[in-house]
Amino acid sequence: MIPSATPIESSAAPREHAARTSPPRSGFDVERVRRDFPILSRSVRGKPLVYLDNAATSQKPQVVIDAITRYYTEENANIHRGVHLLSEKATAAYEGARDKIRRWINAGSTRETIFVRGTTEAINLVAWSFGSRFVGAGDEIIVSGLEHHSNIVPWQMLCERSGARLRVIPINDAGELRLDEYEKLLSPRVKLVAVNHVSNALGTINPVTEIVRLAHQAGAKVLVDGAQAAPHLRVDVRALDCDFYALSGHKLFGPTGSGILYGKAELLDAMPPYQGGGDMIRSVTFEKSTYADLPAKFEAGTPDIGCGIGLGAAIDYLESIDFDAAAAWEADLLAYATERIGAVPGVKLIGTAAHKASVVSFLLDNIHPHDIGTILDSEGIAIRTGHHCAQPVMERFGIPATARASLAFYNTPAEIDVLIHGLAKVRELFG
Ligand SMILES: Cc1ncc(COP(=O)(O)O)c(C=O)c1O
Repeated sequence: MIPSATPIESSAAPREHAARTSPPRSGFDVERVRRDFPILSRSVRGKPLVYLDNAATSQKPQVVIDAITRYYTEENANIHRGVHLLSEKATAAYEGARDKIRRWINAGSTRETIFVRGTTEAINLVAWSFGSRFVGAGDEIIVSGLEHHSNIVPWQMLCERSGARLRVIPINDAGELRLDEYEKLLSPRVKLVAVNHVSNALGTINPVTEIVRLAHQAGAKVLVDGAQAAPHLRVDVRALDCDFYALSGHKLFGPTGSGILYGKAELLDAMPPYQGGGDMIRSVTFEKSTYADLPAKFEAGTPDIGCGIGLGAAIDYLESIDFDAAAAWEADLLAYATERIGAVPGVKLIGTAAHKASVVSFLLDNIHPHDIGTILDSEGIAIRTGHHCAQPVMERFGIPATARASLAFYNTPAEIDVLIHGLAKVRELFG
């Protein structure tokens, strides 16, 4: 069970560079945990895989892979409508998974946990449905300068449809949101504030509780993009008091194609369906259709049943490993990685916020990040290079791209050392 939450920002504050040269955390057996993830023992280009691209997607423990296989091997049937045994079993597994996720994020009811394909679909759902009901000409939507494209473009599309206006919270040189500027943007015109909990490009942990409090004071609702927070921090949607929270299962050690939109029931009840079709109706005639209750109202058609069940297995796994110890290990590892990468001659860190999770974004001399990534790949090291679907962040720092190493709790100090060795090789090659 999730203990009742303390404000997430403070619980997630990085440790004070706890142990720089070797940061093992008591109480977390990383080697045991690594054995749960079969892919981590494979080689890439003849070298042991060093997977540091967790912000793009995380690896899956065997129990998740097994749960999906078991569903297709033993229980495959469509859900909700069947009276036969397999359909009953599939329905129980799928709805059981929904309840596991509800508990994990501390939502009050499964009516408030909508299965979606991922964060992108969750945000689009809210932009279309909330937008069509509550946003009109002259209204305003606030996003931040730290957002992933999936938390920008759906709002721009809404503004084009509705005549509303998009406003942007600027960021400072460390990659933190300017709360003073945010407060100035708030007014009765603002209908929704959409911000990420953790930035995928820089790793900044945003002060979401405060953002929500200020928005509510001004009468605005808040959507939190939790794609990069859920794998690293305890998320408690009721403690945050956000109106919507979106996350992607594939970043949370679950399958691609799974995700959750949390929404407060009174808001979801007031919003029209996003898509029409089977499962989302109460009755259909040619004159008029009426809609099912939550969450079915927002889940038209056959969902990705195997993925939902796989996401439930991922939550079971996280419950089983002591997630708090895992998060503490990872926070120490981030301090270690930041210190070591920052000490490489020619490195410039991009994003130096006081509170960060998982991500170290950097430049190395004048070497194009793509070249850094390619050379590291030849050493078996997977990092991400590019604009990370956050072009406005790159523009803010006047750069086209960064190299980004992003951690999960199964990474180790030894892997960071391999990365440092790889960066030395990159410098050697580029002389
Ligand atoms: C902060 C953030 N928001 C949204 C997304 C979109 O997630 P998905 O592609 O899983 O829908 C990502 C993906 O990287 C992300 O990092």
